[in-house]
Amino acid sequence: MLELNSVTQQFRNNQKETVTALSDVSLKVQEGEFVSIVGPSGSGKSTLLFITGALLRPTKGEVYLMGEDIYAHPASYRAGLRLERIGFVFQTFNLIPYLNALDNVALPAVLTTGSRRKATEKAEELLRRFGLGHRLNHRVSELSVGERQRVAICRSVINEPALILADEPTGNLDPEMTHEVMNLFAELNRNGITVIIVTHEEAVASYAERVLHLRGGILQNGG
Ligand SMILES: Nc1ncnc2c1ncn2[C@@H]1O[C@H](COP(=O)(O)OP(=O)(O)O)[C@@H](O)[C@H]1O
Ligand SMILES: [Mg+2]
Repeated sequence: MLELNSVTQQFRNNQKETVTALSDVSLKVQEGEFVSIVGPSGSGKSTLLFITGALLRPTKGEVYLMGEDIYAHPASYRAGLRLERIGFVFQTFNLIPYLNALDNVALPAVLTTGSRRKATEKAEELLRRFGLGHRLNHRVSELSVGERQRVAICRSVINEPALILADEPTGNLDPEMTHEVMNLFAELNRNGITVIIVTHEEAVASYAERVLHLRGGILQNGG
């Protein structure tokens, strides 16, 4: 499903110094796995997820996703991957605040199917399945943070991705909601979606079948 080969990422900071965010990272993830990567703030977790999610070309190394060397393809190929094959979930939800739950979830499917009606039907079905049937027409600003993250998870799966990438998805949630959201990821994984989560919390990471550690841009036991 995923293979990173000796991926290195360097940035220039404001002082024009070179910062090495990832150092020679190699990782293999099989289809159907639930993997978490745990590391402290600044260890390179978001960078690793952006590179994996076809959002950031690494300074060095290759990324194979579903058999393709994704950065050897044109940008339009990666845009298609992000829309159709990869679901993203973020700590801060990244929902569109002035749209209601239904329209937020439907949006990626409107883009792929071109049918607002079909997209909205599917969004409604998903939101109901995730216990948000009573929130369909509520704007994001009217939802609790736990509800917002469930809406974001619904949006991430509406195009039936093969892979979900989640960056600190429970960072703004209380322990109860964290448990609920992590159980949702586990359920999606049981339904066949490969899930990769990055977090600084060991307890969150432990919901995954395989836990890897990232420290100072170096990944331990990438497999
Ligand atoms: N766009 C950027 N420009 C400069 N430095 C960056 C940039 N993105 C990340 N970094 C640096 O790379 C390192 C890893 O960052 P990040 O991947 O965000 O870590 P984490 O998500 O684990 O907190 C940090 O030192 C951070 O300051
Ligand atoms: Mg981060």
